[in-house]
Order: sequence, then C-alpha cells, then structure tokens
Amino acid sequence: MPRFLEEQIEEVRQRSDIVDIIGSFVKLKRSGSSYVGLCPFHNEKSPSFSVSPARQMYKCFGCGAGGNVITFVMEYENYSFPEAVKYLAERTGVELTQRDLTEEQKKQASLRTTLIEINTKAARYYYAKLKSPQGKVGYDYLRERGLSDKTILHFGLGYAGQDGTEMYRYLRQQGYGDDILKETGLFKMDERGAYDKFWNRVMFPIMDISNHVIGFGGRVMGDAKPKYLNSPETKLFDKSRNLFGLNYARQGKRDYLILCEGYMDVIALHQAGFTGAVASLGTAFTEQQAGLIKRYAQEVLLTYDSDAAGKKAAMRAIPMLRGVGLNGKIVHMEPYKDPDEFIKALGPEVFEKRLSEAQNSFFFEVDELRSGYDLADPEQKTKYYHEVAQKLLVFQDKVQRDNYLEAVAAKYDIRREDLRELVIRYSSRMPEGYPESSRADTALKSSQKKEERGIGYSYRLLLSWLIEDPALFRPVSERIQPEDFIEEDFHTAAALLYQQLEEGELVPAKIINHFQDVESQKMAAQMFQTDFQAKMGPEEKEKALNELVIRIKEYSIDHRIRNLTDMGELQSLILEKKRWQAPEKLHISLKDG
Ligand code: CTP
Ligand code: MN
Repeated sequence: MPRFLEEQIEEVRQRSDIVDIIGSFVKLKRSGSSYVGLCPFHNEKSPSFSVSPARQMYKCFGCGAGGNVITFVMEYENYSFPEAVKYLAERTGVELTQRDLTEEQKKQASLRTTLIEINTKAARYYYAKLKSPQGKVGYDYLRERGLSDKTILHFGLGYAGQDGTEMYRYLRQQGYGDDILKETGLFKMDERGAYDKFWNRVMFPIMDISNHVIGFGGRVMGDAKPKYLNSPETKLFDKSRNLFGLNYARQGKRDYLILCEGYMDVIALHQAGFTGAVASLGTAFTEQQAGLIKRYAQEVLLTYDSDAAGKKAAMRAIPMLRGVGLNGKIVHMEPYKDPDEFIKALGPEVFEKRLSEAQNSFFFEVDELRSGYDLADPEQKTKYYHEVAQKLLVFQDKVQRDNYLEAVAAKYDIRREDLRELVIRYSSRMPEGYPESSRADTALKSSQKKEERGIGYSYRLLLSWLIEDPALFRPVSERIQPEDFIEEDFHTAAALLYQQLEEGELVPAKIINHFQDVESQKMAAQMFQTDFQAKMGPEEKEKALNELVIRIKEYSIDHRIRNLTDMGELQSLILEKKRWQAPEKLHISLKDG
C-alpha cells in the first residue's frame, strides 16, 4: 500500500475545501454557519446532512455518517485511504511523493503507469476507429445490438481494424519500444515480427475501479470462433481481482450488485438503468472477486445464463459469496438465455420484477441437488436426505440453521425429525474450523454493539464533548491525560486533540488523517461525532460528564493494576482509585466553566 508523507496528506486536506468538494457531489444550501443537503449515504427526503466549513467536517444526523473531506471521498467513492488522497491531490494539484518504496517497487509502479498510458491510447484509438468510416461495421453491429451512442461512449467501446498490425504501428509511432509493448498483451510477437492480437472485433475496454484501462475483451461480429478474445494477464491486468463494470457499479451506496456472465449483459443492464451490474472477466468467478464485491454491497443477485453451464457457475459462486459473508440470490432468466436477451425482449420493468423474485441461494442449491436424484428410488432418496443435511452445516448459527432446516423440510417435503437427526449426526463429525458463512460477520456485528456500551463509547463521548465545548479542556485535562485512553487508536487521537487544544488550534479534521487504514479512519471519524444528549439539562450534563470522567479514570487505573510489574505501586493505585470513588474534590462544575 502506498504511504504518503503526513505533511502532504495534510496539504491535500487543507487545499480540498470540504464545501467545494462535497458540493460537487451533493447539492448544498447555506444554513447559518454551515451547509445542509440530502445525505448521499442513506435515502431521505428532508436534509439532515450538514457540512461545517469552520471545522472542515461533515455529519449526517440521520444515519450517523461523518468525517473529514478524505473520509467523505472514501465513503462516497468507496475508495481506500490512499485512493482518496490521490484523488483529492489530483483535483487540487498537490504533487504526492511516495515514501518507503524500494527501487524495485518504483520501477514496477512506473511500469504500471506506462502500461495504463498505452492501454488508454489503444482504447481511444479503437473508439476513434469505431466512429470512423472503416469502423462502420463495428458501429453498426453494436447499434444493431441495441446500444446507444451514449452507452458506447460511456463504456468506451471501440473497433479493432481489419489490418493486423495497425495498433502496433500506431503505438510504435507514439514512441513505445518492443520491450514495453510486449508487456501490454496486445500483440503476438515472434522472430517474424509483431502482430495485433485483436483485429476485426468490437472492443470492450476493461477498467479497474479507478477507471484505468487495464485490458480488453474483443468480440467477433458474427458466429466465428472464438467469440470473445481477452487480453492475457499482464503486470497490470489480474483477472481474478477485477470485475467488468465495477468502476461504475461501485459509485454511491447500493443494497446489491448484479453479477452476470458477459460484457454485453453488463452493458445492456447499465443502459437499462441497472447500474449495479458487474461481470467476471472471461474466467470463473473467484474468491478475490467475492471479497471485492463485499466492499460495495451486502447482497449479490446472480444472473447467470439459464443453461447447464450457467447453473454450474452459480453453484460454484454461491459458496464463495457465502464465504465472505455476502448474501447471494439467484435471478432466473427463463425463457431467455441471459440478461441482455431478457431486457431486449421484456424490458426493464419485467427485469426489475425478476430481481425482486430472486431465489434464496440455499434453496437454489437444494433444487440443484434434488434434480440429481431419482426420488422414487428409496436408496437415492436416502442419499439426497444425507446431502441436504450436510449442506445445512454451512450455517453455524444455530437459529439460522434451524430456520433453514424447518424451511427446507416443509418446502421439499422431508420429514423434519429425520433431517434434524441427520444434521446432528453430521455436525458432531464436523472438523474444527469448518469454513463458515456469515458467522464471522454476525460475531463482528455483535462485538461492535458491545463496544457501543463499552469503554470505546465513553472515549468517543469525551472526545466529542471536548470538541463541542473546548472550555472543558482545562478541567478535564487536569483529571484525564491521553495515557488514560488505553486503546491505541484512542490514545493517539486523544494525544493529538490535547495538543491542539493546548495550542488553541482546534482542527479535528486533521486528526483523522493520522489514521491510514480504512477501519481506523472510520473509527477516528466516529470518535469526533458521537452524539451526547444535547437535550440534557445543565445538571444532567454535569452529572454525565463527571460520570464519564470517573469511568475512564477507573478503567485506566484498573488497567494499570492488571499490568503491574512492581507490586510496590499497587498500594498507591488502590488509593488513587479510592479517591476517584469519593470524588467530591475532583468534581467538575459546569457553572464556573
Ligand atoms: N467468454 C470468453 N471467451 C469466449 C466466450 C465467452 O471470454 N470464447 C466470456 C466473455 O467475457 C463473455 C462471457 O464469457 O462476455 C459470456 O459468454 P457467452 O455467454 O458465450 O456470451 P454472451 O455474453 O452472451 O455474449 P454475446 O451476447 O455477445 O453473444
Ligand atoms: Mn448474450
């Protein structure tokens, strides 16, 4: 992961005025000292999204999203921290230097940059060709297939000419040598010379999530074989880690992505308004792709071809989706082959309806299993029951498994008690660490909930409170020091905030930059915008603040006691804790503040 210099990150943040940047994505209206608009992170009709130019922070009072300009871009564009910094640096003209790169890494980075540049030139060339008289055959083909000019431009579709060396000659003339051209995967090279891999095909540029062209797919305009030809894997193009259409599908918040098989399916769906459609790249769906999707949506609607091969592909994909905690559902395309043909025949409304009728992927799997057995034969029927029971073990959560068991028994007319007994039998044989579906996810969610009521919540409250009301800094800092925040991220945040408050320069947005991985970033953003009871009266407030201070202090003392190496200190710590338990003298009064 690229790392940037802290000063540069801070420069990027300072130059990226939050009102300008957010204003380019969200319609903002001035309201007192801040700006308000409709929150881009949840659906709402009246604005609860507020941007503060003074603090350079945003916050949504509806869904709780919030942070600085960098976290906004991360959330809105689904970028990682470095991606967001890079994006803002480009927008504001800050030059970023990457540190900690070895010579070899620098070389690789510059090779990648050059390959992107070449691919971009090639894509532009193919597009221009498509729009030229010699490209008419390709253009007519795409129009015939129902694509509009706007869609062709949006996806940058093109045409590779009849001549088999045109691209090679063009790129040589642009100044690229054979050494680098060999790395692009666009050419076949041997003793006799270099030839274009793609000719007389319509071209589909494949982009990564940052809209860089990393490869191509090319389709013959007829029934010749192979129907599609794809760029080979290169230093730039890793098929297992990219998805066609994801650069568009990733924008904005989505409940689901639509996973299909072909380029044309994705393009037809986007054109029809289903902009969450993506496809794997001429290869089978991979675990890395499942992980990639997980960054952008919770649910995947699978629209694989309605033939045997499509069903098999779906059967392979489902466990992978489950493996990363994604909920998969099957969309049936019958009587059509794929989404492209479906939409063309029945239109978007009927497609939308099919999406809403998508089948639970577990039932799909059981259906598929069942079709492999002759249930009139008692032997086969027994085997089928056993298979279903084993299949149910993918659910480790007992309630979830029981619910599925009930549903499957009822739906497929299996005696519930028999099935239950089989499940128990198989589960006792199940090896440790059996790959699990949504369990990790559920565990994570419940641990996050616990944290809400745990010490982290108190830390966040106190930090937000100090930002809200810096006058409290003096009395609070006499009682709580940054060392009392005993979790690493909070400690860092508290130390930075204390420093700012001491220097009389409060810029919470700057603090967030110190956390570079996505999780800590989000956590840090949250630290500073935890709602405390604004409705509380002054007395309640005073009581709450003091309880908070005591809680944090006691937790810190307990922590020190637990980690004590010198038993001589124990006595003094116990005394200190006692003092906090009878805290009259330590009481903070809000009235004199
Ligand atoms: N594919 C491939 N090589 C082939 C055939 C297919 O890489 N020889 C990949 C392509 O990514 C293609 C996808 O598999 O988009 C689905 O193939 P298929 O269902 O055969 O084609 P369609 O997407 O229906 O293509 P079209 O509608 O253009 O006929
Ligand atoms: Mn098709």
